[in-house]
Amino acid sequence: MLKNCKKEKACMYNIDNVREDFPILIRQVYGRPLVYLDNGATTQKPRCVVEAMVDEYYNVNANVHRGVHFLSQQATELHEQSRETVRRFIGARSASEVLFTRGTTESINLLAFSFGEAFLREGDEVVVSAMEHHSNIVPWQMVCERKGARLRVIPMTDAGTLCMDAYRQLLSERTRIVCCTHVSNVLGTVNPVEEVVREAHRHGIPVLIDGAQSTPHFPVDMQQLDCDFFAFSGHKIYGPTGIGVLYGKEEWLEKLPPYQGGGEMIKNVSFERTTYNELPYKFEAGTPDYVASHALAVALDYVSALGMENIYQHEQALTRYAMEQLQQLEGMRIFGPPAAEGQHDAVVSFLVGNIHHLDMGTLLDRLGIAVRTGHHCAEPLMHRLGIEGTVRASFGLYNTKDEVDALVAGIERVRKMF
Ligand code: ALA
Repeated sequence: MLKNCKKEKACMYNIDNVREDFPILIRQVYGRPLVYLDNGATTQKPRCVVEAMVDEYYNVNANVHRGVHFLSQQATELHEQSRETVRRFIGARSASEVLFTRGTTESINLLAFSFGEAFLREGDEVVVSAMEHHSNIVPWQMVCERKGARLRVIPMTDAGTLCMDAYRQLLSERTRIVCCTHVSNVLGTVNPVEEVVREAHRHGIPVLIDGAQSTPHFPVDMQQLDCDFFAFSGHKIYGPTGIGVLYGKEEWLEKLPPYQGGGEMIKNVSFERTTYNELPYKFEAGTPDYVASHALAVALDYVSALGMENIYQHEQALTRYAMEQLQQLEGMRIFGPPAAEGQHDAVVSFLVGNIHHLDMGTLLDRLGIAVRTGHHCAEPLMHRLGIEGTVRASFGLYNTKDEVDALVAGIERVRKMF
């Protein structure tokens, strides 16, 4: 019924074969070959992911967990098998620790709301880092406002790394939760999240890791990280839009109240009183995007067949090469730590001379090169760096050295126009 990815072919990680799995990569933009370097924003989809969605809509479609009929049971089976695939992929203990959401942003909103309801009181503190995406700042700010709690910020060094001494000093009996990104979407900094977790746990404080920019690039394992919550998005890891995951340790999820009310999340409803469903359904009100959950599992199978370690090595080599080449350009200013092993991941943010990031991005686009420009949903980080925005090239498993060369040549061409 459902077609498999080209696993044996993919296993070899032959970049030409891998690129063939992504039909969009042969597109031309303004008459030039597309050079897609905006993977931090979203990744392109392999054929097997799109086909899985089409196949499910054509052949299986029915609402999950609700019907006695054949199609509903088949759709439910696919949906729940997908949860198990996610569990395996991130190394969770149990599938009931895997909640499906619409993406990282919804995962964090869910947690901020439910955690805030249960555990935040006036005078409490929530710790975030200076390099968070807005989605790991604003939901916490909103709940702090509601509860009279306070947001505290782990500062950042000039090199774009977390000040760990300052972090240790921030932790106190008032701290209720620490929320930290695994990898900065702007700087590519890989944060020492295991240390962040260890330090917080010494005080009995739970930790949320935002894995939106790490999960697509290297293996993540919940047992090794030992974080209490972890969020990521499907569309950044070659899966569809509109699906994401919130992982939570069972003992924490059991203690949190539901986020939204509706069907699915209940056990019994009367006008007098409602009782809630067991995990993970307590947090999944309404019809889930069961087609997207299945397609996400197909995407995870696809990257697993390639090997997350192979993807990591490929992208690290590309990032190092890009930073070496870019550094040689006149007026080049790269933000974030050096490309030493394990410190800088798959994202290069830069500015060239006085050229505005938007001008650079627009002119690169005319050369077929897709990059992101602006504040990258991290305005506080921009304030810290004293800039308005950057140009960001972010790599995926299908990018090549030739594409990095095209980027470098493109920047040089734009530079000479000014
Ligand atoms: N968070 C995504 C990015 O960094 C959208 O581009």
